[in-house]
Amino acid sequence: MVGGGQGAFIGAVHRLAARVDDRFELVAGALSSDPQRARESALELGIGIDRAYADWREMARAEAMREDGIDAVAIVTPNHLHAPVATAFLEVGIHVICDKPLAVSLEEGEALAKLAREKRKLFALTHVYSGYPLVRHARTLVEDGALGEIRIVHVEYAQDWLAEPVEAAGANRQAAWRTDPRRAGPAGCLGDIGTHAYHLASFVSGMMPNAVSAELHTFVQGRQLDDHVQALLRYPNGARGMLWASQVASGAENALRLRVYGTEASLAFDQEMPNELWLTMRGGAAQRLTRGRIDSVDALHATRVPAGHPQGYAEAFAQLYLDAALQIEAMDAGRPPPAESRLLATVDDGVAGLRFIEAVLASSAADGRWRDLR
Ligand SMILES: NC(=O)c1ccc[n+]([C@@H]2O[C@H](COP(=O)([O-])OP(=O)(O)OC[C@H]3O[C@@H](n4cnc5c(N)ncnc54)[C@H](O)[C@@H]3O)[C@@H](O)[C@H]2O)c1
Repeated sequence: MVGGGQGAFIGAVHRLAARVDDRFELVAGALSSDPQRARESALELGIGIDRAYADWREMARAEAMREDGIDAVAIVTPNHLHAPVATAFLEVGIHVICDKPLAVSLEEGEALAKLAREKRKLFALTHVYSGYPLVRHARTLVEDGALGEIRIVHVEYAQDWLAEPVEAAGANRQAAWRTDPRRAGPAGCLGDIGTHAYHLASFVSGMMPNAVSAELHTFVQGRQLDDHVQALLRYPNGARGMLWASQVASGAENALRLRVYGTEASLAFDQEMPNELWLTMRGGAAQRLTRGRIDSVDALHATRVPAGHPQGYAEAFAQLYLDAALQIEAMDAGRPPPAESRLLATVDDGVAGLRFIEAVLASSAADGRWRDLR
């Protein structure tokens, strides 16, 4: 693992997720930018002293030389380090599991995609919300034509934890780097949660928009990056979409919601209620589909616990680790990846997210002018 030391947020979730299906063991880490904290964090997690690295470059070199070197690295640092760290590990032939957004520019992202292909290594991107069984079921329903022709895609992702200038006091580390363009990249809320919303909408609808008109806004005075984004989307089949993401929506916790409307029916999913999915036929009564009572292959593959028992965020994350393990095993054995692992987000999804970011930045700078996404 690179990043995820003491006091960090998502590293601990990755560690939990990696262990759920007993496919991974954490054996090495460069867990912090501060060498002493990196060592202390590693020892606290039971990593041996010889593999508690002070620096990720050293870790990549040393692990590549070991007989028992790591199979994969999980990258859970702030955004600006994703590309350099992933590059260092891919270069020495180590599979990569990286958090989003893929990089801080489209150019960087495209270079990573090229490198991963050249090196024939896995590059998984942890768009966790695609790991829920009912999100996978929703995708299957769309693919099977249950909704008819898709007309409207509506995705929203609202949080309130940046509604105040919490970064100013310096105490909130997560807020500090997310509002600093040198570490977050050119997009604030857009890169942080807008990319999740964009991925979820594409994942379920099976469609990529071809044009966007957007406005970024910063509500909190003095903040350097956007904390709110609203965008209109056009799809090649004539469908229309809307995406809004905000980190200043007072009262919102982690309100990621998706609605997809077709000519025959619609779907609604709320991330805070991940064990239910609503399906409504045109003119019909709403049907509440529950996680334990659905039978699509992709949903069953992502199911961990029996009907009526809540399954949530940690298991969705674990699903990505399981799919990554299945793909790594296959790649290392020279086999094609098993079909059930195919929904894992890849470096190409990351590139699509970066293309979206660049188009939104450009559209917003041009007062909402439509930008091509192809
Ligand atoms: N998939 C998701 O749902 C999800 C959720 C939260 C965060 N994220 C992503 O995960 C990443 C980390 O976010 P976070 O909230 O955990 O941030 P964080 O600030 O809590 O943790 C970042 C960690 O990276 C470490 N780090 C910084 N520079 C380093 C270096 N040079 N070498 C080694 N470690 C270094 C820090 O010391 C810290 O331990 C971000 O890219 C973020 O977008 C994804």
